[in-house]
Amino acid sequence: MIRNDIKSLAAYHVQDCKGLIKLDAMENPFALPEGLRQSWAEYVAASEINRYPDSDMLELRQAIAEHEGVEANQVLLGNGSDEIIQMLLIACEPGTCVVPSPTFVMYNLISRWLKRPVANVELLKDFSLSADTFLQVCAREKASIAFLACPNNPTGNLWSQETVEKIAKNFKGLLIIDEAYAPFSSRSHTSLIESNTVILRTFSKIGWAGLRLGYLLGTPEIIAHLNKVRMPYNINVLTQASAKFLLQHSDLFRKQAEVICKQRKVLSKSLSAIAQLEVFPSETNFLLVRVPDATATFAALKAKGILIKSMHGQHPLLAQCLRITIGTSEENQSVIQAFKEIFE
Ligand SMILES: Cc1ncc(COP(=O)(O)O)c(C=O)c1O
Repeated sequence: MIRNDIKSLAAYHVQDCKGLIKLDAMENPFALPEGLRQSWAEYVAASEINRYPDSDMLELRQAIAEHEGVEANQVLLGNGSDEIIQMLLIACEPGTCVVPSPTFVMYNLISRWLKRPVANVELLKDFSLSADTFLQVCAREKASIAFLACPNNPTGNLWSQETVEKIAKNFKGLLIIDEAYAPFSSRSHTSLIESNTVILRTFSKIGWAGLRLGYLLGTPEIIAHLNKVRMPYNINVLTQASAKFLLQHSDLFRKQAEVICKQRKVLSKSLSAIAQLEVFPSETNFLLVRVPDATATFAALKAKGILIKSMHGQHPLLAQCLRITIGTSEENQSVIQAFKEIFE
């Protein structure tokens, strides 16, 4: 009954985090301030959960459009950006999907669910991407779709503007520039929106991971077509109400992102001072760190109550690498202390 290729897949694994400092999933570590939590609860309580959600979501799309300086008909909403990746891979012409490697796993995984071939373009040793190689692979494969995570997960770096612009200018298929980490990055690419270039964003990393809300920015034409493969009520009433409410407080989340960027500097500097560690530059809310033995360090950190993600074994470029989400100042101090105890 079940396809053999699906049988051979491993289910997406989420680590048990009970009782641990949770730094494994690139979440914002700050809870909603108490006063705001109260007003949010009152706002959401007015939702009509006996009714299906608003399927068109014009009001919410308008609020996001205003935020991004585009029109409401240039915004598509998804149940997390993961769902939008799925819509893109469903709607795009059959043909190869080209992705850098290593990158965010869902591009590859969802392509496989949909029986779409994937071609990987290996990153260089410093995690940079050759635009020429990427474009050569796209041409060789006659690719219809390609993803560029800018900044990239799990490497944390942002490819040069020249690289991204060259690919956007020359790729003939649909290019998705995934800006999940834009709030922590020095550059955004909304100016590259074109008939075949779209920008993917999410609210997950700025503090709303539990709501599951992502959005795509593109031309009105492409957004209208993608809407045809969107599940009619994909964003539930509680998420819609919460997002409308929280967007009125976007300053708070922008300031929290600034704090996270400052904390990234603190954590990076302190870990770099430990001789056995190699800390890679990051434009995201996480750090990629190479240690002498990732499995042993992961276990040692867990024993000290800290949950991170080991990337070892996922790709040769990620050998002995750990991915650590930036936490609160206290959480980061616990991480620094734990690393010192392990290595000094
Ligand atoms: C590059 C990238 N894109 C998309 C996502 C998915 O985000 P969402 O929570 O909106 O599905 C992630 C999550 O880690 C990511 O790293």
